Amino acid sequence: MSLKLIRVLSGLVAVAMTAVPAASNELAARSTDASTTCDTDSAIPFYRCARPQSDHFYTVNYNEMQTSVDEGSVFEGNMGLVFRSPTANTTLFYRLYNVGATDHFYTTNQGEADVTIQLDGYTTEGTAAYVYSDQICGSIPLYRLYAPGDQDHFYTTNETERDSAVAYAGYIYEGIACYVLPNL
Ligand SMILES: *[C@@H]1O[C@H](CO)[C@@H](O)[C@H](O)[C@H]1NC(C)=O
Ligand SMILES: *[C@@H]1O[C@H](CO)[C@@H](O)[C@H](O)[C@H]1NC(C)=O
Repeated sequence: MSLKLIRVLSGLVAVAMTAVPAASNELAARSTDASTTCDTDSAIPFYRCARPQSDHFYTVNYNEMQTSVDEGSVFEGNMGLVFRSPTANTTLFYRLYNVGATDHFYTTNQGEADVTIQLDGYTTEGTAAYVYSDQICGSIPLYRLYAPGDQDHFYTTNETERDSAVAYAGYIYEGIACYVLPNL
């Protein structure tokens, strides 16, 4: 289903819900779901670059992606679409870097970001993007993996790639990092 269609449908649901009084608990619950705002117009690509056995790097900044490629990493496509600025129902995706490990690390969990900075030698690189913390607005999971040997955090929306990274490349699956919109 296209994002435009999802927007139209959620708009229709919102109109329908405001027209119907929330008389029962069931209606009240549905009206909470319909109140989720899906403002997907400003979604932009989350570029992915990689240096084999070393680092996976994600950015919404085209020039930054290009600089990384100029410095020897390989552009590997877009890991879905995310937001540059706070957008309805999104949360901040923190970006951290460990220069010793050559590892970019991303999390929506501020507590985890703080601990990783205090204990694991990472420094903050600010906001990577704004993403969904729940599977809403037609979003899909962004899976998080870690290879202790290479000290590499790796994020992918591709389940086949996730499973083969675990089976063949020394990665541990660490769960869903967040939800992103599928590529158009
Ligand atoms: C989306 O945001 C609105 C307004 O803050 C909130 O009422 C609603 O519960 C949120 N929905 C989800 C699924 O997070
Ligand atoms: C997912 O990953 C597999 C294995 O790397 C690859 O063959 C496939 O083309 C990928 N699918 C998409 C939609 O990128």
